[in-house]
Amino acid sequence: MPDGRPIERLVIFGATGDLAARMLLPSLYFLDADNLLPSELKIVASARSEMSRDAFTNYVRDLLKARPEGLDEAVWARFAARLDYLAADVTRGEGLAGVAAEVGARSTIFYLALSPSLYGAVCRALDASGLACGECRIVMEKPLGHDLASSQAINAEVGQVFEERRVFRIDHYLGKETVQNLLALRFANTFFEPLWNNLAIDHVQITVAETEGVGERWRYYDDYGALRDMVQNHMLQLLCLVAMEPPPDAGADSVRDEKVKVLKSLRRFDRATAQQLAVRGQYRAGVVDGRQAPSYVDEKGGPSDTETFVALRADIDNWRWAGVPFYLRTGKRLPERRTQIVIQFKPLPHLIFGERAEEDVSANRLVIDLQPDEDISLLLMNRRPGLTGNRLQALPLSLSLDDGGRRRIAYERLLLDVLAGNQSLFVRRDEVELAWSWIDSIAGAWTDLGITPRPYAAGSWGPAGAFALLERSGRTWLDE
Ligand code: NDP
Ligand code: BG6
Repeated sequence: MPDGRPIERLVIFGATGDLAARMLLPSLYFLDADNLLPSELKIVASARSEMSRDAFTNYVRDLLKARPEGLDEAVWARFAARLDYLAADVTRGEGLAGVAAEVGARSTIFYLALSPSLYGAVCRALDASGLACGECRIVMEKPLGHDLASSQAINAEVGQVFEERRVFRIDHYLGKETVQNLLALRFANTFFEPLWNNLAIDHVQITVAETEGVGERWRYYDDYGALRDMVQNHMLQLLCLVAMEPPPDAGADSVRDEKVKVLKSLRRFDRATAQQLAVRGQYRAGVVDGRQAPSYVDEKGGPSDTETFVALRADIDNWRWAGVPFYLRTGKRLPERRTQIVIQFKPLPHLIFGERAEEDVSANRLVIDLQPDEDISLLLMNRRPGLTGNRLQALPLSLSLDDGGRRRIAYERLLLDVLAGNQSLFVRRDEVELAWSWIDSIAGAWTDLGITPRPYAAGSWGPAGAFALLERSGRTWLDE
């Protein structure tokens, strides 16, 4: 079967789960609405639960209807005709017989919307059922493992069945519009690149703040915590895209080679630095968005030492970034939902406008907002109009990305790229493993030292240590 032949089947294992309901099925529907799915594509939904095709189709219709975008009946008719449902247990080789009969020798994508603990078993079952053909692609969700050793084990099991160029490891942050724009900003303009280094940049802040708690995902989350759930993947990917050298082209391996160099240059933590430079927190009861929120341990589970908040200082030991801290901060039940990258430039070397202007001056700052708004703005100093002497003001120059259109789900772009066989926005095996080895240096030191999460009230910006982390070097979080 030649590569490049249109994909005829998309099999979603775990199709009745939360991810499929909130992200995958709506994304596929929206792609169909935009006529972006191959006309011959059939979507084979699968999970263990017995369900008829009609029951599954009704379930999908209901979940699409409940979305704010509403349902277009003409698009729905086209989309529904693509859907099928087959019950199968991926841990049993013979369990995939029905899927094998449906897929046959067609070019197929297998999407594993399943617990990563099943990835090895499902690859073996696909192999045993003759489904792991040379042209098939496999898509894997995060988290790939719990540490370096377990991620290597999963990658090795998958690698025995699928070549790396068939493997698409999802980090949905890479499908976000503003993340794409970060690359355009850096590499389609000349004026940022000469300043993109330790001569001009004081530090970088990356914040992923959520107001939600962990809710129904408590059991999963409690095994992982914020460090493994968010920092290992989404936040390190953002850091890599900010810090990487210009790649020779936008090809998948060119970009991923550069990200790998950044991951190799990340300074590993030891006991002393993990204590000083990495803060763990866990929310207690509080008020978020004007509503009372329970503590993490009262939300669903019981006693727990899992962190729901992390703030840390990452250092990149290379020529470009020596001496420029990257402060990362993420947490659940914070005061607002905000995903933001701030590039804080150095202060002016000398002010010529006199003492009164001194209090007006802020250093330049590039703010890249990913959520809830998608925006890029550059804080510039200018002169206040009028005759009252030299007073300055800081004004944001907006490079707004909002074209008024529907905000796409990140998975739409990623699914389209899997269909096209383009791996640029997917994480390569060496990236995942390098990220885990850095995370292990933090988690290992925390365990050795017996560091447990510090409490913070739901609706606050985390424990006091998160503020002290920056204050020690005369900096503050830029919460604006
Ligand atoms: P859920 O627990 O909601 O869904 C799991 C799905 O897998 C269900 O459809 C379940 O159906 C099916 N399943 C479980 N065991 C088997 C089996 N042995 N054989 C076949 N099907 C099985 O999980 P999520 O949807 O939340 O997560 C799926 C993946 O996506 C995980 O890797 C998760 O980490 C990742 N992810 C999820 C996010 C989210 O927001 N939900 C965000 C980022 C990543 P049944 O019980 O009927 O078999
Ligand atoms: C997921 C994490 O990968 O990303 C969740 O498992 C988190 O805990 C989510 O809530 C955040 O994604 P987004 O796109 O809403 O910022």
